Formats: sequence, structure tokens, C-alpha cells
Amino acid sequence: MATVVVTGATGAIGSATAAALTERRAQVIPLSRPSFDLSSLASVRATARELNRGGGHIDVLLNIAAVYWPRFQKSADGLELMFTVNHLAPFLLTNLLRDRLVGGGRVITVTAPSTTRVDVDRLLDRDHFHAFHSFGATKAANLMFTFELARRAKRWDVRANAFHPGIVRSDLMGESPAPLRFATRFFARDPERAGQDLAELALSPAHAGTTGWFFKGTRRIDPPKSTLDTAHQAALWKRSAELVELEGGF
Ligand SMILES: NC(=O)c1ccc[n+]([C@@H]2O[C@H](COP(=O)([O-])OP(=O)(O)OC[C@H]3O[C@@H](n4cnc5c(N)ncnc54)[C@H](OP(=O)(O)O)[C@@H]3O)[C@@H](O)[C@H]2O)c1
Repeated sequence: MATVVVTGATGAIGSATAAALTERRAQVIPLSRPSFDLSSLASVRATARELNRGGGHIDVLLNIAAVYWPRFQKSADGLELMFTVNHLAPFLLTNLLRDRLVGGGRVITVTAPSTTRVDVDRLLDRDHFHAFHSFGATKAANLMFTFELARRAKRWDVRANAFHPGIVRSDLMGESPAPLRFATRFFARDPERAGQDLAELALSPAHAGTTGWFFKGTRRIDPPKSTLDTAHQAALWKRSAELVELEGGF
């Protein structure tokens, strides 16, 4: 039975994915608030310690959780909240779980085809904060993280891919302006299909060796060119590792 660790399992896509995984007889370990809070790096470390103490192999880590918040707000660690929850915390969690993933583990990070440039100094700067820009940058950072991870994780026999669910009905953009909420509601699909697709990518033997890919549903798509600069990916990794005070990792 495959063991799948899932963040965001209480959300629209996360709960649909957890249900699809359970249908396929996987063991789902949901990481959720209040005992697991991505806005606190201490909480991420505590959860990773707990999972590492258990010692079992993790077949799949699904980084699904994310937040959209319209105002500049600092996380428990004094870093901007969206950048922390959407990028730094999953970056830290993934790295801290390295030894559980070694030998065939799959990491799938849920994101969107964002073309927003990732400038960490700007993201941390209250004076330059713009909510859509920051949110978009965190989703681009998810892609850059995935591609750098795919390269680094090869020596640990771990795969890393990114997944775009399409426009799905959820409360994620609940704090965004009303016209945007109404417009996206018009196009949005129910989350079940995204859950099935993500469960397929997580468990299918056909994808056991796939790494460094970006999927929309179960189809490979081209990532935005702006996320493909390997020097920029490496610089983002280095800066993220400094900000979360990572030692070791991939
Ligand atoms: N919906 C779309 O159209 C769409 C499109 C492209 C990509 N995506 C991506 O899909 C993923 C899931 O989105 P969704 O639409 O399913 O959103 P959602 O329903 O709002 O779910 C968000 C999830 O993240 C969790 N979360 C938020 N802040 C957290 C924190 N500080 N600590 C721990 N967990 C936290 C929430 O937990 P609580 O229950 O505790 O709030 C919830 O489980 C996101 O990465 C999003 O960027 C969504």
C-alpha cells in the first residue's frame, strides 16, 4: 500500500485528491491545521520530525496547500505570509523529508502556469507588496523549485513534478476582488477531476520514473519560459535555504 503525505487535504483539491487516493487504496497522511501550520517554520520542522521518527518510506509527498491573502502580513518567522505558506514552507518540508522519500519517492507540487518574475527581495518588502504579484510569484516559485529539485533529487532516486489542476471551484481566492471571484466561478470546474488526475500522477506505475515535468491534468505541458532559467532556479533554492535555515536536504 502506497503512503502519501498530503498538505492542504482540507481544501477543495486536497480533499478530492485524498478521496481519490483512498479509493485507490493508498494510505493518506493528511497534514492540516491546527497541528501543522505552514505559516510557521517551527511547525513544519516539528511535523517533519514526527514523520522522520516514524521512519517509514513515503512514496509520495503532495504539496497542495496554498493561501491568497490581500494584505502584507508577516508569518510567525517574520517573513511575508503567502511566500512562506506557498513556497518556503513546502520547500522546507520537502527537504526535511528527504530520507523518507529516498528510493523511488515522488514529490508533486500543485501550482499554476505563472509568468510572474520571482524576486525574493521584492516579495519580502512591505513597500513593494502587491497581492496578485506576490501570489503569482509564489506559484512561479513552485515551478522553479520543482525543476531544481528534479535535478538535485536524482542522486537520491526521488522524482519531482508540478501539477496544474485547471480552474477549480474553491475558496482559495475568497479574499480577492468580487469581479475576479465571479468571473472564475463561471469557468471553474468541480475539484473531483483534479483529484483523480493528481491521484493518477501520484500512484501510476507509468509515472514512476517521470521527473522535472509540468502537468495540466495528466498531460505534460510546457512551463512558462520565465521559470526555466537554471541559474535563477539555483539562486532561488540557495536563498530559500538561507531563509529557512536549511541544513542538508536535497
Ligand atoms: N482552485 C484553482 O482554480 C487552482 C488553480 C491552479 C492552482 N491551484 C492550486 O491548487 C492548490 C489547492 O488550491 P484549492 O483551490 O484547493 O484551495 P483551497 O480549497 O483554498 O485549499 C487550500 C488548502 O491549503 C490549506 N492551508 C492554507 N493555509 C495553510 C497553512 N498556513 N497551513 C496549513 N495549511 C494551509 C488550507 O487549509 P485550511 O482548511 O486550514 O484553511 C486548505 O486545505 C493550491 O496550491 C493552488 O495554488 C488552484
